[in-house]
Amino acid sequence: MEFFELAERKRRWSVFDDIPWEKWEERFADPVLATCAETFLGVEMYLPDYVAEGLNLTRDSFGQAWFHVNWGYEESKHGLALREYLVRTGQRSEEQMRDYERTILSKSWELPFRTPRRMFVYGALQEKVTWMSYRGQRERAIAVGDPVMTEICRLIARDEAAHSDFYQKALIACIQEDEPGTLRDILHVLENFRMPGEELLPDYETRTQVAMGTGVSRETFFRDVLAPLFKKIGITRKDLIRARHATVEQRSTIVGSESR
Ligand SMILES: [Fe+2]
Ligand SMILES: [Fe+2]
Repeated sequence: MEFFELAERKRRWSVFDDIPWEKWEERFADPVLATCAETFLGVEMYLPDYVAEGLNLTRDSFGQAWFHVNWGYEESKHGLALREYLVRTGQRSEEQMRDYERTILSKSWELPFRTPRRMFVYGALQEKVTWMSYRGQRERAIAVGDPVMTEICRLIARDEAAHSDFYQKALIACIQEDEPGTLRDILHVLENFRMPGEELLPDYETRTQVAMGTGVSRETFFRDVLAPLFKKIGITRKDLIRARHATVEQRSTIVGSESR
């Protein structure tokens, strides 16, 4: 409820009224900005799968299910704003967009983890990485002087930061409820973490290299994603190492007792 109230009061924005579309000029056209916008749009476009799969997982919990629907609404504007940007600025045609949509939606996204708690960990990480991508894109837009992309990225990045924050708070509650189990889940998700576009987007490798130029790298992942996450939820790397040892010991006890 707190998340929803804050979103309604402070974070609502309109694709039509809050983006300074009229300020765009031909000289702002930049192939890297456009390719990144198209890549991020691709990731945002798996929304039907994100909403459907997530909702199925959380439908028994009123709070989680309602959060998820509101989250989906916010995400839907990200895709809309990016799509509008590419078409309105003439950097992509309607026809190209439709081809892109067909390619993107010919595949579907599947839940990377099967429990709500693991999905909280995934959400906390994924939303923060996404926030980082938009932050990088915004910096490039400022450098190029494009006021439209700058504002789009500011609005989207603010949403993504709020999403990551929500999942981090959910994790704090999980730790209070079951610390060893939550630590094991954090470990599991970290070991298997992949961004949603990795196996789905066309030319992901090339696209990532372009995106790397806008600020997402291994170093920034540790510095800007993992370290603040650990700090916020009150855990350390040592806690995770202990959790790993405990898991290994548990496994060998099970294997030992099975072979006896
Ligand atoms: Fe988004
Ligand atoms: Fe998000």
